[in-house]
Amino acid sequence: MKTILLMENQKPPFNRRKFLTNAAKIAGVGAAGFIYMKGCNNEPSEVEPGPGNKHVFLTNPYLVTLESSKAYIRCITNLKAYSWVEYGETEKLTNKEHATTNGLVNANTRIHEIELSDLKPGTTYYYRVASKNIIEFQPYKVVYGETIYSKFYQFKTMDEQVAETSWLILNDIHDVRGSYEHMIGLNKNEPFDYVFLNGDMYDDIENEDQVIELMIKPCAETFAAEKPMIFVRGNHDIRGKYAREMLNYFSFPKGPFFTYRHGPVFVIVLDTGEDKEDAAAVFAGLVDCEAFRKKQATWLETVLQSDEYKNAPYKVVKMHIPTHYTTGGKGELHCRELFTPLFNQYKVDLVISGHTHKWGVYPPNDIHQYPLVIGGGPRTGARTLIKVKANMQQLKLQMLDDSGKQVGEYLIKR
Ligand SMILES: [Fe+2]
Repeated sequence: MKTILLMENQKPPFNRRKFLTNAAKIAGVGAAGFIYMKGCNNEPSEVEPGPGNKHVFLTNPYLVTLESSKAYIRCITNLKAYSWVEYGETEKLTNKEHATTNGLVNANTRIHEIELSDLKPGTTYYYRVASKNIIEFQPYKVVYGETIYSKFYQFKTMDEQVAETSWLILNDIHDVRGSYEHMIGLNKNEPFDYVFLNGDMYDDIENEDQVIELMIKPCAETFAAEKPMIFVRGNHDIRGKYAREMLNYFSFPKGPFFTYRHGPVFVIVLDTGEDKEDAAAVFAGLVDCEAFRKKQATWLETVLQSDEYKNAPYKVVKMHIPTHYTTGGKGELHCRELFTPLFNQYKVDLVISGHTHKWGVYPPNDIHQYPLVIGGGPRTGARTLIKVKANMQQLKLQMLDDSGKQVGEYLIKR
């Protein structure tokens, strides 16, 4: 039986402020130095190379999820290419892996995902990414260009048996430049296993440059070449004409809602969808989140009945829209109606959300019988970094504001 020792910074319900659109808007020419063709919705296949036609990586490689026996390494090139990963347990990188689909090696693409399998849990691997562009691709003749290499990096696979885990959570960055670097920097040199991105990392998504420059690149250059950026979408991440293509840049091997176990913590991730009703006029008939949430509620109940869930020392849920303390949008209320009874019945230990742009730590009460922690918003002064550390004795959550001051804390003792 767990006992709650400490609850701080309890805040009353609030009215959510309307979000201020303060994100930088994207110009036609990307900072990465490539140009979008007009009239093609910036399809990746239509992107032209930048000046000089030099083959380059548009960002560092990045890890989007991690398992105990697998890693998914991604990179993006400016030219269509064939890419691979060289890796190993030592810096000698004795293994090579590329991606294949239905008997063909993935190639002639700019967005690359290479899955490494048969890895050992809790083991450090070294790697670099390599890529050669394809100058000519005829049926019986392929001409490659220059081979380029990333720097050398390392990562550690997840491990169910590890005694302690710690991770960081960001939410509601909403495209604000500099926020990833600043907020991760507040962790100083304390160790962490991965960063969880709890939705609304983007504003409404318009094009590839936004996808890369305002999330992938700052993450890849700050931490994600070596520690995974595990992402669940918020309502803003599914808006805009490029929201569907955005999924091409991430790996969801188990789908957009999923579970994972690292150390003593079993994590359930829900994709809460839109905050308004599907029939809202602004969605023009192109949103179908109500059925999507119901499907997740059915799946959730089977997860909550599983031995993996029951036997885990700590059971944590992460979902962008919180079950409570929202303003009452129909999508928000649907989350409450579907998920609160299940969380109560199966006694989840902690739910961590974002969305409201106002941080808060809400201890259990008669309505939600689980603690609910909500991270802050995108504006300076409202941003938060959530740090969680768990071992067999306790799970400790700390929430820092963007000056580094602690503004919330929650402790669960076993
Ligand atoms: Fe949101």
